[in-house]
Amino acid sequence: NRAKTILDIQKMKATGEKITVLTSYDYPFTRIMDECGIDMILVGDSVGVVFAGHDNTLPVTVDDMLYHTRAVTRARPKALVVTDMPFLSYQTDLRDARINAGRLVKEGGAEAVKLEGGAHVTDTIRAIADMDIPVMAHIGLTPQSIHRMGGYKVQGKKEEQAQRLLEDALAVQEAGAFAVVLEGIPLTLAGRITAELSIPTIGIGAGPHCDGQVLVIHDILGLCEKYSPKFVKRYGDARTLISDAVASYISEVKKGEFPTEGHSFN
Ligand code: KIV
Ligand code: NA
Repeated sequence: NRAKTILDIQKMKATGEKITVLTSYDYPFTRIMDECGIDMILVGDSVGVVFAGHDNTLPVTVDDMLYHTRAVTRARPKALVVTDMPFLSYQTDLRDARINAGRLVKEGGAEAVKLEGGAHVTDTIRAIADMDIPVMAHIGLTPQSIHRMGGYKVQGKKEEQAQRLLEDALAVQEAGAFAVVLEGIPLTLAGRITAELSIPTIGIGAGPHCDGQVLVIHDILGLCEKYSPKFVKRYGDARTLISDAVASYISEVKKGEFPTEGHSFN
């Protein structure tokens, strides 16, 4: 039961074993999901929304990603750890992209990085892959493009857009990406891309035909009070669990039922 590498992840596409991915931003969650046998952990820039309370992922910094990546890698997971390159850490020029990707690996302990975009970011993917840092691409609904997209909208519904997304997928593979996230695209298009590519596709809001699946841990636990998109499935109710525990604590302390002598020192 050794640590997983990108080769193990890629092999799963060939054998047809589905690749399981969840986001994690800290030590305890990483310990738990790694003990369950998750294949890959994504330190996503979704941390800016579900952890830090921002409206979107744009305010997240490289230092934020480093802090959370360190917390995750301190858990020494067997899962492959991939960290998101946040907005403005790779768009300006290739030198910035290389340095920031390098910091996430060198200072954070990430084993790969993820960045958003298709054909227009192939130079960036190649520059980072050339320094032997595996890159996961991310196409379709790319949250860092929220202002261009005019909100979080399903992409590639029209045939012309669908064709461009297929070309994006082939372009990021050609540039050296070891895997690609397909987010918010019709399930038939995701199936088409998955069949065309030799690298694994990891879907989110992209239907059942991808090689793997990623979701945000807070979403599967029902931890977010805000909107829950259609593609999310809730596997637990941590909100109620936490709320009940906190309410019981408050009640017992108020009533003088806790702490008891049993919780005290003589
Ligand atoms: O930031 C994130 O959590 C992500 C995944 C949901 C794909 O990019
Ligand atoms: Na992300």
